Amino acid sequence: ERIIGIMGAMPEEIDGAISLLNNPQRAVIGMRSYTTGTINGIKTVVVFSRWGKVAASATAATLIHIYKITELIFTGVAGAIDPTLKIGDIVIAKRLIQHDLDARPLMGRFEIPLLGITYLECNTQQLDNARKAITPLIVNNILRDTIGENVLSEFGIVNPNLHIGDIASGDQFFSSELQKQQLNEALPTVVCVEMEGAAVAQVCYEHKIPFTVIRTISDTADEKSHIDFPIFIEKISSRYSVAIIEQL
Ligand code: ADE
Repeated sequence: ERIIGIMGAMPEEIDGAISLLNNPQRAVIGMRSYTTGTINGIKTVVVFSRWGKVAASATAATLIHIYKITELIFTGVAGAIDPTLKIGDIVIAKRLIQHDLDARPLMGRFEIPLLGITYLECNTQQLDNARKAITPLIVNNILRDTIGENVLSEFGIVNPNLHIGDIASGDQFFSSELQKQQLNEALPTVVCVEMEGAAVAQVCYEHKIPFTVIRTISDTADEKSHIDFPIFIEKISSRYSVAIIEQL
C-alpha cells in the first residue's frame, strides 16, 4: 500500500496541505504535529519538519518508522545560487549534497561518513513524476491563475521557470555574496541552497524510501535574502506549495 509523507519547511505550507486532506487526524510526536488523511484516495501524512538538518532528519525518521510511509515529498523554499534562477522559480532536486559536511582528511570533502557517497541521487522515476506533475503549473499557467498575476508581479515574478538540478543543504542561512561565491566555487553544479533536503534524502536513502525535494526560490542567498525570504514566506510560499501538492 502507498503511503505518502509530505514534509514542509514552513507551517503555512503544511496548513495548506492539511486543507487538501480528507478525514484529517492529528497526532503530536516529538514537538511535531502529524496529520494523516487521504488525498485522491491515497493515504498521506503531512508534517512541518522544522528547520535545519537535525530537525528534518528526525521528522523523516518518524514518518518512516511510525507512519510507514513508502515515499516522501519535501516542499519548501530555497535561496538561488545559480544566477539564472529567479525568485518564484521552482527547482526539483536531481541530487542533494550536504555543503557543511567535511570530515577531511579522513575522507573527501562532502563525503557522507560510512556511506561512501557524496551526492544523494533522486530516483529517476520519482523525478520524472514530479517533473510531469509540475510542468503544467508553468506551461499551462496554472500557477499564475491560482496565485494571481497581480500577486506574482508584486514580487517581480513574471514567467516562473522549472529547473531540475543539484541542491545543497546545510545548517546555515545564506545572507552574503561571499557565502554564495564560496559555495559556488566548492560545488559548481549546485543551483540553490536550503537547510533540510540532503538530510531528509540521506535518511530516505538509508531506508530505501524514494524521495522528491521540490523548492521554490524565495531569495537570492545574498545581502537581500533576510528581506526577501520572510516576505516570500509570508505572502506566497504556501500558495506555491498547495498548487504543487495539488498536482502531485
Ligand atoms: N532557504 C531559503 N532561502 C535560504 C537561504 N538564503 N539560505 C539557506 N536556506 C534558505
